[in-house]
Amino acid sequence: MKKIRLYGNWKMNMTRAETTAFMSEFARSAKPLEAVMGRNLEVAVFPPFTSLWAANEAMRSVSGPMPLLGAQNVYIGDHGAFTGEVSIPMLKECGCTHVIIGHSERRHILGEGEPLIAKKMRACFDAGLIPVLCYGETLEEREAGRAFQVMERQLRSAVEPLSADESAQVVYAYEPVWAIGTGKSATSAEAQEVCAWSKRLLAEAAGRDIGTTVLYGGSVKGSNAKELLSMDAIDGALVGGASLKAESFLEIYTAYAGS
Ligand code: PGA
Repeated sequence: MKKIRLYGNWKMNMTRAETTAFMSEFARSAKPLEAVMGRNLEVAVFPPFTSLWAANEAMRSVSGPMPLLGAQNVYIGDHGAFTGEVSIPMLKECGCTHVIIGHSERRHILGEGEPLIAKKMRACFDAGLIPVLCYGETLEEREAGRAFQVMERQLRSAVEPLSADESAQVVYAYEPVWAIGTGKSATSAEAQEVCAWSKRLLAEAAGRDIGTTVLYGGSVKGSNAKELLSMDAIDGALVGGASLKAESFLEIYTAYAGS
């Protein structure tokens, strides 16, 4: 059975108290999965900045299986006059090993562009954090037949500053914008098509087969998990809404693999 990565993007949700409660619930709900965690299943959560330390503390004090920890964004540089930003050393101090880069909400709501995303990708490797690179088309782009053109630009610009070995370590997450938070997931065939195409493109960009990891994200939940995660080009899920409760989050894996 392939290894599944189940990553929970909490977005602007979960206070410190809710985060601490989540971790205790996670330890209980993940108990039956303890034997597969780390081997067949890798779980990570991405709380908001203000809850990272609470997550870290809970991970050290609660006994039982725990997820890996990541942040939802980061800025380049270690410190300096960048009001409102947080650096990689600050995230590492909170126990983060991963960081989401280029989520569509940052691209579309907060105006984050490809040149900055590329710099963030480079900074992650310079400082030792694994980037989870999000990419995907809007409904308008899909309907205009421009989805692959848009995604090719997003992917090529993000990996341009990376070596082939670095590109191989990135966790890529295909998230069609029209499927995020809408309840309307891509079909398994649509997601498979893009994930398989992405792997070919990234291998071509790296100059060799680099065994890329590509997640699908966009309205993933227990009821559609088996169909999506069974597709051979899909290596896991980046989950928003369904990741806010440990039980519904982990149900995504058990729906795929059986409990
Ligand atoms: P969703 O969000 O699962 O709530 O659609 C996914 C994401 O934006 O990562």
